[in-house]
Amino acid sequence: MQAHQYIYNINYPFYEKELCAFELRALFGIEIDEKVFFTEIKVKPSISPFIKNRLEIIYEGTTFDEILKQITTDSLTATDFMVKYLQLEKLKKSDKPNKINEVDKIDAVDKLAELDKPDSDSKKRRELCKKVGLCIDGHPSYKTPSKIFGITVYQGNWYFGILTKSDNIWKMHNDKPYTYSSSIGINTAKVLVNIAGKGDTTKKLVDPCCGVGTVLLEGESAGYQIKGWEINSKIADDARDNLKHFNYHTRVTNGDIKDIEESFDAAIIDLPYGNFSKTNQEEMLVIIRNAKRIAQKVVIVSSEDITEDLVSEALSIIDFCKIGKNRISNFTRYIWVCE
Ligand SMILES: C[S@@+](CC[C@H](N)C(=O)[O-])C[C@H]1O[C@@H](n2cnc3c(N)ncnc32)[C@H](O)[C@@H]1O
Repeated sequence: MQAHQYIYNINYPFYEKELCAFELRALFGIEIDEKVFFTEIKVKPSISPFIKNRLEIIYEGTTFDEILKQITTDSLTATDFMVKYLQLEKLKKSDKPNKINEVDKIDAVDKLAELDKPDSDSKKRRELCKKVGLCIDGHPSYKTPSKIFGITVYQGNWYFGILTKSDNIWKMHNDKPYTYSSSIGINTAKVLVNIAGKGDTTKKLVDPCCGVGTVLLEGESAGYQIKGWEINSKIADDARDNLKHFNYHTRVTNGDIKDIEESFDAAIIDLPYGNFSKTNQEEMLVIIRNAKRIAQKVVIVSSEDITEDLVSEALSIIDFCKIGKNRISNFTRYIWVCE
């Protein structure tokens, strides 16, 4: 059986370009410079802060009419469906549908002239969707569609398939009751979860120094079994309140990483910050050793470059990313993926 092909499109603010590339390497095993890519790997767009849409390709062709022909030949049937245009690049003049007035038999000359105006892209897109919709057997639904089809053109080829948009519901986590200035950003937290689990929600994850639970929120909302530990009882309470606020059930234990007896597929550790005095340095190493003890894979975040410490602790570094200070964070952060 032929594997499904998916088209994804992504977007990011310039200061998160590295973070996005880091996530794509983990989820799809690719290094890309484009904001559109094709892959056989299926992930839910909303697990990522950067993926905007996923189109599961059903038909492809060199012209729009070829797509219509395939839909008609196969008598594609659907109920309560909607067709949306997935904009990956600006429509070219040659991409406008042929015989535009075949559907609405109204003044064809005016309509085509309108389509040539630079601001008429959305009209062109609506027209394309309408034409596709008319070829599908069944009832469309504009308010509560149970299936959304997508049509798009990219680099001269047309694609039609099932469109899944990022739901962005996770953005409500920005309004959690408790946050600290040192808490990591929600986008970073999502990327850490994706790097730890690689989109496989059967993986058991842990955040053994969970703070107010930023990573736990993203882990649970992405569908993982994730647990948190936090040494400070007040902070552990705040993490529990944050989770409860969204009706989440992830367990937070008030305790030291040293006392964790369970094993996990991956640990996400946002190391305590501060200038590393000798004691702090030793505490940091204890946390790292324990993370290695309880998990097969360890994703480590630090405000200092601790590469040498990781190497001397015999961790093998499989990927790395440095996020500089930017508009939303005053901290430089280093992230390592270790096994
Ligand atoms: C950098 S903060 C984590 C912040 C968290 N990612 C967030 O966004 O809220 C590190 C946390 O580790 C906790 N911690 C320090 N040593 C610990 C230990 N030995 N075991 C468990 N937690 C520890 C600290 O109390 C602190 O809340």
